[in-house]
Amino acid sequence: MAVERTLSIIKPDAVAKNVIGKIYSRFETNGLKIVASRMAWLSEREAGGFYAVHKERPFFKDLVSFMSSGPVMIQVLEGENAIAKNRELMGATDPKKADKGTIRADFADSIDANAVHGSDGPDTAKVEIAYFFPALNVF
Ligand code: TYD
Repeated sequence: MAVERTLSIIKPDAVAKNVIGKIYSRFETNGLKIVASRMAWLSEREAGGFYAVHKERPFFKDLVSFMSSGPVMIQVLEGENAIAKNRELMGATDPKKADKGTIRADFADSIDANAVHGSDGPDTAKVEIAYFFPALNVF
Protein backbone atom coordinates (compact mmCIF):
# COMPACT_ATOMS: atom_id res chain seq x y z
CA MET A 1 0.00 0.00 0.00
CA ALA A 2 1.19 3.48 -0.84
CA VAL A 3 2.06 6.19 1.65
CA GLU A 4 -0.31 9.06 0.90
CA ARG A 5 -1.07 12.54 2.18
CA THR A 6 -4.54 13.97 2.71
CA LEU A 7 -5.98 17.31 3.82
CA SER A 8 -8.02 17.32 7.00
CA ILE A 9 -9.93 20.19 8.59
CA ILE A 10 -11.40 20.23 12.09
CA LYS A 11 -14.42 22.46 11.47
CA PRO A 12 -15.66 25.37 13.65
CA ASP A 13 -18.20 23.22 15.56
CA ALA A 14 -15.54 20.75 16.73
CA VAL A 15 -13.00 23.48 17.53
CA ALA A 16 -15.71 25.20 19.63
CA LYS A 17 -16.34 21.91 21.47
CA ASN A 18 -12.65 21.81 22.42
CA VAL A 19 -12.02 18.37 20.92
CA ILE A 20 -9.00 19.07 18.67
CA GLY A 21 -6.83 16.86 20.89
CA LYS A 22 -9.33 14.01 20.92
CA ILE A 23 -9.55 14.07 17.12
CA TYR A 24 -5.75 14.29 16.73
CA SER A 25 -5.46 11.29 19.01
CA ARG A 26 -7.67 9.26 16.67
CA PHE A 27 -5.43 10.15 13.73
CA GLU A 28 -2.31 9.19 15.67
CA THR A 29 -3.60 5.93 17.09
CA ASN A 30 -4.70 4.88 13.61
CA GLY A 31 -1.34 5.38 11.94
CA LEU A 32 -1.86 8.86 10.49
CA LYS A 33 0.99 11.28 11.10
CA ILE A 34 0.34 15.03 11.32
CA VAL A 35 3.01 16.45 9.00
CA ALA A 36 1.71 20.05 8.78
CA SER A 37 -0.90 22.03 10.67
CA ARG A 38 -2.20 25.52 11.17
CA MET A 39 -5.14 27.14 12.88
CA ALA A 40 -7.03 29.73 10.87
CA TRP A 41 -10.22 31.74 10.88
CA LEU A 42 -11.19 31.53 7.20
CA SER A 43 -12.78 34.43 5.36
CA GLU A 44 -15.88 33.67 3.28
CA ARG A 45 -13.66 34.08 0.23
CA GLU A 46 -11.16 31.46 1.45
CA ALA A 47 -13.91 29.03 2.50
CA GLY A 48 -15.74 29.57 -0.82
CA GLY A 49 -12.55 28.98 -2.78
CA PHE A 50 -11.89 25.77 -0.89
CA TYR A 51 -15.41 24.43 -1.53
CA ALA A 52 -15.65 25.80 -5.10
CA VAL A 53 -16.64 22.35 -6.45
CA HIS A 54 -19.90 22.69 -4.51
CA LYS A 55 -20.74 26.22 -5.67
CA GLU A 56 -23.86 25.15 -7.59
CA ARG A 57 -25.21 23.06 -4.69
CA PRO A 58 -28.13 24.44 -2.64
CA PHE A 59 -26.15 24.20 0.61
CA PHE A 60 -23.11 26.16 -0.69
CA LYS A 61 -23.95 29.53 0.89
CA ASP A 62 -24.65 28.01 4.32
CA LEU A 63 -21.53 25.84 4.07
CA VAL A 64 -19.33 28.86 3.35
CA SER A 65 -20.87 30.86 6.15
CA PHE A 66 -20.49 27.94 8.61
CA MET A 67 -16.86 27.32 7.62
CA SER A 68 -16.03 30.98 8.23
CA SER A 69 -18.02 31.25 11.49
CA GLY A 70 -15.06 30.47 13.78
CA PRO A 71 -11.55 29.08 13.87
CA VAL A 72 -10.69 25.81 12.14
CA MET A 73 -7.67 23.53 12.54
CA ILE A 74 -6.18 22.48 9.22
CA GLN A 75 -3.71 19.59 8.87
CA VAL A 76 -1.97 17.34 6.40
CA LEU A 77 -2.10 13.68 7.43
CA GLU A 78 0.38 11.15 6.11
CA GLY A 79 0.30 7.38 6.22
CA GLU A 80 -0.49 4.14 4.39
CA ASN A 81 -3.73 4.62 2.50
CA ALA A 82 -4.20 7.96 4.32
CA ILE A 83 -7.04 9.27 2.15
CA ALA A 84 -9.37 6.29 2.66
CA LYS A 85 -8.21 5.76 6.24
CA ASN A 86 -9.11 9.34 7.18
CA ARG A 87 -12.54 9.04 5.47
CA GLU A 88 -13.13 5.83 7.42
CA LEU A 89 -12.24 7.52 10.72
CA MET A 90 -14.51 10.50 9.84
CA GLY A 91 -17.64 8.46 9.10
CA ALA A 92 -20.54 9.38 6.81
CA THR A 93 -21.29 13.04 5.92
CA ASP A 94 -24.53 12.88 7.91
CA PRO A 95 -23.60 12.03 11.52
CA LYS A 96 -26.93 10.24 11.95
CA LYS A 97 -25.73 7.76 9.32
CA ALA A 98 -22.12 7.58 10.53
CA ASP A 99 -20.85 4.30 11.99
CA LYS A 100 -20.49 4.07 15.73
CA GLY A 101 -17.06 5.17 16.95
CA THR A 102 -16.36 7.47 14.01
CA ILE A 103 -15.44 11.13 14.54
CA ARG A 104 -18.72 12.38 13.09
CA ALA A 105 -20.82 9.94 15.10
CA ASP A 106 -19.08 11.06 18.28
CA PHE A 107 -18.58 14.80 17.75
CA ALA A 108 -20.90 16.10 14.98
CA ASP A 109 -24.40 17.51 15.43
CA SER A 110 -25.80 17.70 11.91
CA ILE A 111 -25.02 17.20 8.23
CA ASP A 112 -23.88 20.82 7.90
CA ALA A 113 -21.98 21.10 11.20
CA ASN A 114 -20.22 17.77 10.83
CA ALA A 115 -16.92 18.25 12.69
CA VAL A 116 -14.36 17.32 10.03
CA HIS A 117 -13.39 17.54 6.39
CA GLY A 118 -11.20 15.02 4.57
CA SER A 119 -10.07 14.90 0.93
CA ASP A 120 -12.05 12.33 -1.05
CA GLY A 121 -9.36 11.18 -3.52
CA PRO A 122 -5.74 11.62 -4.63
CA ASP A 123 -6.45 14.48 -7.05
CA THR A 124 -8.52 16.45 -4.53
CA ALA A 125 -5.91 15.81 -1.83
CA LYS A 126 -3.22 17.35 -4.02
CA VAL A 127 -5.30 20.45 -4.78
CA GLU A 128 -6.53 20.86 -1.19
CA ILE A 129 -3.05 20.49 0.36
CA ALA A 130 -1.68 23.08 -2.08
CA TYR A 131 -4.60 25.42 -1.25
CA PHE A 132 -3.70 25.67 2.43
CA PHE A 133 0.00 24.67 2.42
CA PRO A 134 1.43 26.06 -0.81
CA ALA A 135 4.99 25.66 0.43
CA LEU A 136 4.62 21.95 1.21
CA ASN A 137 6.03 19.50 -1.34
CA VAL A 138 3.16 17.40 -2.56
CA PHE A 139 3.74 13.89 -3.78
P1 TYD B 1 -19.59 16.34 0.68
O1 TYD B 1 -18.32 16.55 -0.11
O2 TYD B 1 -20.75 15.71 -0.01
O3 TYD B 1 -19.32 15.51 2.02
P2 TYD B 1 -17.98 15.13 2.82
O4 TYD B 1 -17.64 16.30 3.70
O5 TYD B 1 -18.37 13.92 3.64
O6 TYD B 1 -16.91 14.83 1.81
O7 TYD B 1 -20.10 17.77 1.22
C1 TYD B 1 -19.19 18.73 1.68
C2 TYD B 1 -19.80 19.39 2.89
O8 TYD B 1 -20.97 20.11 2.51
C3 TYD B 1 -20.27 18.45 3.99
O9 TYD B 1 -19.24 18.02 4.83
C4 TYD B 1 -21.28 19.29 4.71
C5 TYD B 1 -21.91 20.11 3.60
N1 TYD B 1 -23.19 19.52 3.16
C6 TYD B 1 -24.36 20.08 3.63
O10 TYD B 1 -24.35 21.05 4.40
N2 TYD B 1 -25.55 19.54 3.22
C7 TYD B 1 -25.61 18.48 2.39
O11 TYD B 1 -26.74 18.02 2.05
C8 TYD B 1 -24.40 17.90 1.91
C9 TYD B 1 -24.42 16.71 0.98
C10 TYD B 1 -23.21 18.46 2.32
